[in-house]
Amino acid sequence: MKKELPLKSGLVENVRFFMGNGQTVLVSCSNKKGTTKNVLTVTWVTPTSFQPLLFLISIGKGEKGEGTYRFSYRLIEESREFVINVPTIDLKEKVLQAGCIHGESMDKFKEIKLTPIKAKITAAPLIEECILNIECRVVKEFETGDHVVFVGEAVAIHYNEDVMTEDGFSNKYKQKSNMVHIVDLLEEKI
Ligand SMILES: Cc1cc2nc3c(=O)[nH]c(=O)nc-3n(C[C@H](O)[C@H](O)[C@H](O)COP(=O)(O)O)c2cc1C
Repeated sequence: MKKELPLKSGLVENVRFFMGNGQTVLVSCSNKKGTTKNVLTVTWVTPTSFQPLLFLISIGKGEKGEGTYRFSYRLIEESREFVINVPTIDLKEKVLQAGCIHGESMDKFKEIKLTPIKAKITAAPLIEECILNIECRVVKEFETGDHVVFVGEAVAIHYNEDVMTEDGFSNKYKQKSNMVHIVDLLEEKI
């Protein structure tokens, strides 16, 4: 038997957990000059084209004080760049922290103890502790309600040596359970 979920019900919030792939990443960003850098946690991320290689991230654009306020949105909007960093499950606590605090009045990298390293092309840094880092340049942007979708073209990709072999992915990382999934964070956050 089906039940209808009224669109105004508080439970609608939960529907989003049934959607999307749930893999959760750290997105690093900076202002244009690279003098202010930041990192936030993002579950709304997906590949969206092979050629060119494109990824999209959906970032809250609310004003300060609103639930969808993201300092990172301001930085990406200015620099037109971001880096997608793929964390492994051992970084779970840091991923949660990056998704719960705002970076405008602190150095979130120091606060969370993540190591920013210079990227090849973007002013936004790579995160050393993550196994895969994709430098992206924004090629398209559009509003979706209270979020903005940034479509980024990969301009450089870096990976830890043990992530890939000449034959493809190493067995260690074929297991998605090695990465951070929204479900791993649910208990603490929701
Ligand atoms: C598990 C998890 C997933 C999140 N996914 C997203 C997301 O996809 N898009 C987004 O804009 N914010 C997302 N957030 C919220 C931001 O990471 C959070 O608001 C962060 O504190 C913003 O930091 P900033 O203000 O320094 O940019 C998520 C938070 C958590 C804990």
